[in-house]
Amino acid sequence: MSGAPSIDQAEVDAAVDAALQAVAAAATSADLKAARIAHTGEASPLARLNARLRDLPGPEKPAAGKLVGGARGRVNGAVAAREAQLLEVERAARLEAERVDVTAAPVRHRPGARHPLTLVRERVEDVFVAMGWEIAEGPELEHEWFNFDALNIDPDHPARSPQDTLFVEPEGAHLVMRTQTSPVQVRSLLDRGAPLYVLGPGRVYRTDEIDATHLPVFNQFEGIAIDRGLTMAHLRGTLEHLARLLFGEAARIRLRPNFFPFTEPSAEMDVWHPTIKGGARWIEWGGCGMVHPNVLRAAGLDPEEFQGFAFGLGIERTLQFAEGLTDMRDMIEGDVRFSRQWGLTVK
Ligand code: DAH
Repeated sequence: MSGAPSIDQAEVDAAVDAALQAVAAAATSADLKAARIAHTGEASPLARLNARLRDLPGPEKPAAGKLVGGARGRVNGAVAAREAQLLEVERAARLEAERVDVTAAPVRHRPGARHPLTLVRERVEDVFVAMGWEIAEGPELEHEWFNFDALNIDPDHPARSPQDTLFVEPEGAHLVMRTQTSPVQVRSLLDRGAPLYVLGPGRVYRTDEIDATHLPVFNQFEGIAIDRGLTMAHLRGTLEHLARLLFGEAARIRLRPNFFPFTEPSAEMDVWHPTIKGGARWIEWGGCGMVHPNVLRAAGLDPEEFQGFAFGLGIERTLQFAEGLTDMRDMIEGDVRFSRQWGLTVK
């Protein structure tokens, strides 16, 4: 077609210069992509020049084609070179951002540890659960009736004085911090009736001064078994079984007559600990006895039909002699290094 404007060098150079400037100015791959589309895409000046080749008179076509083709080639080459440069810069930046200092000191998360009192408690619970007993808990803020009266403890018994027991206001509400886990006996009997095989672990409170062998807040486990025809032989067998599992096959128990208002007969129980530091010997472990008929009556049972035994042991004391610890205060300081000595098991 005649009349089409011919393509001159200046026009091509202007398009190329603009394109090269945009390519050089591109600081990111995204900028470069925009420059490529603007200067080599369908609507770009170079594409329009290229389109115009078709309409040029035949003789002009070869030279103009060479001019435009060369221009497009230079611009495409510049785009490719800049792209390679930018990819390299961006890759270096990414590596720098993701740099890990393998020589840096690690953040230390010090592992915690389970408290050995918890371990002893769970160990004892396991022994009784394996024999088919249930675990029961009672409140630590207890009614005086459960802590004393229902256990056949007289109103003027010395343990009921404020010198021994923490009474809780308001006065006259008859609330105490329980001094023993024995109220769990009565609560279990009332809740579950007989026959009954229950272990009641938990915290108890006394006005004791703190020293190497006394804590004002400590833990006991209480056992009570009520059934038809239970005797002291069952009590003895049960406690000896526990002693053997805790302290080894050679462990034995021994009962010495004693008095507790809630058991009759009552006994002090000693354990023969075969592997204790300093040599095997008898150690006082806790109290026990046959549940007093008055306790059974307080729970609505007929003592002619049901009998049973009960025992109470201190968990801190058990841990103390089981592990040869000299000072109970270490058990309540909360220093994780103390607990960590045991890992997940006590002997
Ligand atoms: N409750 C008693 C105490 O804390 C321990 C005790 C003795 C519990 C004899 C009993 C028992 O169940 O039969 O000193």
